Amino acid sequence: MNATTTAFAPGRVNLIGDHTDYTGGLACPMAVDLGTTTTLERGGDEVRIVSDQQPLQAVVPLDVADPMLVRPRWARYVAGVVSVVRPEAGGTGTMTSTVPVGAGMSSSAALELSVALALGFRGTPFELATACQRAEHAAVGVPCGLLDQLASACGRADHAMVVDFTTLGVEHVPLPPGCEVVVVHTGVARELAGSEYADRRADCERAAAEVGPLAGATRDDVERIEDERLRRRARHVVTENARVRAFATALRAGDLPSAGRLMGESHASLAADFEVTTGALDTLAARLAALPGVFGARMTGAGFGGCVVALGIPGAVTEGWRVRAVDGARVVS
Ligand code: GLA
Repeated sequence: MNATTTAFAPGRVNLIGDHTDYTGGLACPMAVDLGTTTTLERGGDEVRIVSDQQPLQAVVPLDVADPMLVRPRWARYVAGVVSVVRPEAGGTGTMTSTVPVGAGMSSSAALELSVALALGFRGTPFELATACQRAEHAAVGVPCGLLDQLASACGRADHAMVVDFTTLGVEHVPLPPGCEVVVVHTGVARELAGSEYADRRADCERAAAEVGPLAGATRDDVERIEDERLRRRARHVVTENARVRAFATALRAGDLPSAGRLMGESHASLAADFEVTTGALDTLAARLAALPGVFGARMTGAGFGGCVVALGIPGAVTEGWRVRAVDGARVVS
C-alpha cells in the first residue's frame, strides 16, 4: 500500500509592513486559522489533485517543464511546487481550503506549502518558505517577496511575528489580550499577476540604485532622490519599516491605541506614496477605523483590491473573518 500524507498550511494576514519584504525591510504578519489541507496517496508519475474550490482537477506530470503553461490555472501552483520539489513519486488526492482566493490572505502560499509537505518536502520552515516562493515565481511569474510563504511556514498560535527580510530573522510577539483581528473583503478580487506589483518592485530597485538598500536608508536619503515618484515609493518603504518597529513595541506593551494609529498611517502611506490602494480599500479602511472599539484598520497584502485588516476589541467589527493566530504549516498525519 502507498503511504498517504495529509498536510495543512495556514493563510496569513499582514498586520503592518506591506511592500517592504522585497527590499529587505520589516513586516508583521500572522498565520491565520483559514488554511489549506492537502492529502496525497503517493505513487505514480504525476500529481492529481481534486480541490473543493475548483471545478477541474489538477494533473501535473513529475517532469513538468513550464508551470505557467499548465491548465486549469490553479494547477499552475501545483506545477510550480512539483517543478521546485521534484519529488521522486507523484500522488493522487484531495485539497480543501478555507482561505478566500484573491483576498490578500495568501491562498496561493497556503496551497504551495500544503502540497510541498504532502509531496514529502523535508527541510526547515525557512527552506520550505523559500522553495514555495520559487514555486510561486515559476507558477505565475510574479516576483513576489517571501512574506506570504514565510508567514505560513513560521506562524505561532496567539502570536504575530516580526520578520526582518535582510537577516531573515523571525521574532514571535504575543498578541495582547483584549483585542481581535478581523479581515474584511472589499468585494473586489485582486490579481497579483497584474504588472503593477512588478512595477512597484522595479521602482524600489531604481530608488535603491540611487541611495543604497532601502532597508538601511534614512528619511534624508529618501529626500535626495530626484525623481518624484521614486522618492515617494522609497519614502513609503522607509517610513513603513519604522512603523513596523513601533508597532511591535506597541504590541509588546499592550498599547493597542498606538498599534491602531500606526495601522492608519500605514494605509495612508500605501495610498499616497506607494499608490496600491483603491477607492474601495480607502473607503472600507476609513469606515472600519471609525467604528467604536476599533483601534485601526488598513489594507493588507499587495493591494489593488482585496482586504482590509482591522484591530479592535472583541466584537467591535461584526462583518468579515475574525481570525486567530495559529501555528505554521505542518504534516498532520
Ligand atoms: C504580496 C506578495 C508579498 C508582499 C506583499 C506586499 O502578498 O506576495 O511578497 O510583497 O504582497 O507586502
